[in-house]
Amino acid sequence: MTGETKTGDARMGARILLIVGGGIAAYKSLELVRLLKKRGHRVRAVLTAAGAAFVTPLSLGSLTGDKVYQDLFSLTDEAEMGHIELSRAADLVVVAPATADLMAKAANGLANDLASTLLLATDKRVLMAPAMNVRMWRHAATERNLATLKADGVAFVGPGEGEMACGEYGPGRMAEPAEILAAIEALLEVGAAARPLAGLSALVTSGPTHEPIDPVRYIANRSSGKQGHAIAAALARAGARVTLISGPVAIEAPPGVTLVKVETAREMLAAAERALPADIAVCAAAVADWRAERDAAQKIKKTGDAPAPLALAENPDILAALSHHPFRRPKLVVGFAAETEQLVPHARLKLAKKGCDWIVANDVSPAGGVMGGDDNTVVLVTATAEEAWPTLPKDQVAERLAGRIAAEFART
Ligand code: C5P
Repeated sequence: MTGETKTGDARMGARILLIVGGGIAAYKSLELVRLLKKRGHRVRAVLTAAGAAFVTPLSLGSLTGDKVYQDLFSLTDEAEMGHIELSRAADLVVVAPATADLMAKAANGLANDLASTLLLATDKRVLMAPAMNVRMWRHAATERNLATLKADGVAFVGPGEGEMACGEYGPGRMAEPAEILAAIEALLEVGAAARPLAGLSALVTSGPTHEPIDPVRYIANRSSGKQGHAIAAALARAGARVTLISGPVAIEAPPGVTLVKVETAREMLAAAERALPADIAVCAAAVADWRAERDAAQKIKKTGDAPAPLALAENPDILAALSHHPFRRPKLVVGFAAETEQLVPHARLKLAKKGCDWIVANDVSPAGGVMGGDDNTVVLVTATAEEAWPTLPKDQVAERLAGRIAAEFART
């Protein structure tokens, strides 16, 4: 995603997609735009056909400083920014006023105009500020729709109670612009807390490497890639831009990461260096330490005599190369140490030898079933401390590690 908001400043300078529905309260949305802009947020406005009966695209556009989107089937708009992208290139979607009609459409997944299509296509949180006549608000259909939308995760602000434009009294008045602004910023703050690595980039190596001996044989390590892939997923969920460099594995790459597939250690190193600069590097791959010195062009034949000698050459150490990178060393480099005994002393030695910041030491004695299994028992070894974690599913180890990384970046 472009224009990512950085950790800590999501409350300021967020991207708001504002859908203005058709109601007398639409005039208050102009004031809302003014307040949002004053707070440094960027606002892109969508005006429904009914909304355009209350405010003009010109007044809305003058305040947002951007074009106002109105048509689902606009060739020029689709050429500039398709409706799917429009619904996602925002940090938050705000519907103000949210009419009974817009709520009904969104609750039922209708998509017959631009506003309802955007609400169905968005992957962002939605905040609605309802505004309608009190009888419409109290109608069983609206109450059903409200319950459905809340269950779908839509947030609401208002409506307030009071004298209505139609002369009746009761709930249905749209919340005041300042109140909507506060609700928007509260949601953005929650979002920022849930994405503590937003604005940071990470590279993760995962899986084994395959080192060819000839066209059909190779040297490899036992590695499913489950732990590395889970770490990539957890970092992406925490908001980091993740490049996952994976050797051959049977599992899918998690959503939201850039996948680079490699075969050999040397390809993995080249891909890791291409992924720099990065703030975070996590080397979870089980890289083959050696490769065949010569990769035979043809299948090596059994001759009936002694087996063909296999000369080995040492592979580059990707973790050490990243840790000692002369000018693009990631701020935090994390390695793994798979050990069958003396977990912490061996991990400490590795920390010093490789030059990384943290080592996740895992006990891979066969009894533990870590290789290929779903659980992992690890000790996080840093320069000054050792944290023994309980046996956890690999995705929870990943979640914890992402949390520790976020805490480290928050601290520094
Ligand atoms: O030396 P050892 O293989 O035990 O070190 C394990 C750590 O080093 C892991 O983080 C692994 O991803 C990394 N490593 C690497 N390149 C190598 C060998 C190991 O990045 N050639």
